[in-house]
Amino acid sequence: KIQEVNKFIEIHTEAARFYFSNLLGTKNPGYEYLKKRGLSDKIIKKFGLGYSLNSWNSLMNYLIAKGYDKTDLVRCGLVTHKTETNKYFDRFRNRVMFPIFNYNGKVIGFGGRVLDDSLPKYLNSPETMVFNKRLNLYGLNISKKSIKDDTLILVEGYMDLISLYQNNIENVVATLGTALTIEQARLIRRFAKNVIISYDSDQAGQNATLRAIDILLQADIKVKILNLKDCKDPDDFIKKYGFEGYKKAIEQSDYYIKYKIDILRKKYDLNNDSQKMSFIEESTLMLKKLKSPIEKDLYAKYLSDLTNISIESIRANIGIKVNSNY
Ligand code: UTP
Ligand code: MN
Ligand code: MN
Ligand code: MN
Ligand code: MN
Repeated sequence: KIQEVNKFIEIHTEAARFYFSNLLGTKNPGYEYLKKRGLSDKIIKKFGLGYSLNSWNSLMNYLIAKGYDKTDLVRCGLVTHKTETNKYFDRFRNRVMFPIFNYNGKVIGFGGRVLDDSLPKYLNSPETMVFNKRLNLYGLNISKKSIKDDTLILVEGYMDLISLYQNNIENVVATLGTALTIEQARLIRRFAKNVIISYDSDQAGQNATLRAIDILLQADIKVKILNLKDCKDPDDFIKKYGFEGYKKAIEQSDYYIKYKIDILRKKYDLNNDSQKMSFIEESTLMLKKLKSPIEKDLYAKYLSDLTNISIESIRANIGIKVNSNY
């Protein structure tokens, strides 16, 4: 089994080299795409980005010539076998390639992006003996060397991470569009005690943020949320506001409770008494669950300011003992 694992990693490494070398051709569409996205040659090399040729068998033929078995290429998910026709073809064709490394820096899979807006936008390696999506985080092999303030930033996508990295925000990991798992959260916890979630600002990103908050808390991680203002994702943000802008957004990121209260607040009309009461009920239920009395009090104050209800009433609702000297 360990020999199989090593062989699979070797195959992935050879494939990554092949994809990388494909970028070097003149007027290569993959290289042109990466340039259009603003990536430097240095960063392309650092992340080992590449291009899968617009052909049916170029990777397969290359790896077979190197002595690898066709069936192993299929088991690695790099080649697809159509049983009906008994035809073999490369899984990734005409895509910009992102090698996925485990946190020890071994290539275990790939993500491939189309060069236009056809679908699926990203095609990823399937689950294989070496690629278990639940257990891995994109970029950790690199960012683990740059952890600052015991903090990692969590983003959705390959491009978000690479774009932040190029702009000197290096302590970043990506979940690759899938829901964060408890295993991934525990892996993060081995490297950092704090996480700033910086998912996309669309509805999907917001829902994913709410789920990630719960999972990170379960792994005993302190959680904050970064606000991307008018931008759709961290890649857009850093292009628009630069390093200084993102740095500032990190400093201004909200503690997760405030983020959740702010989301809840948008669901209610605080000028309507019964809605206001529902909002307070729901928020205080959330605050009740907090372990730290200081946190409770801090957000009781926030809630009181939001609603103009006295802090004493809110404290009473959360179950903070109200001073009674009479
Ligand atoms: P996004 O749709 O936000 O893409 O998906 P993106 O990262 O901003 O990519 P660009 O800027 O358009 O190039 C976030 C992540 O979800 C996964 C990818 O990992 C992507 O980076 N995803 C997305 C897929 O796996 N498949 C898809 O079809 C789309
Ligand atoms: Mn998204
Ligand atoms: Mn999207
Ligand atoms: Mn995005
Ligand atoms: Mn994007």
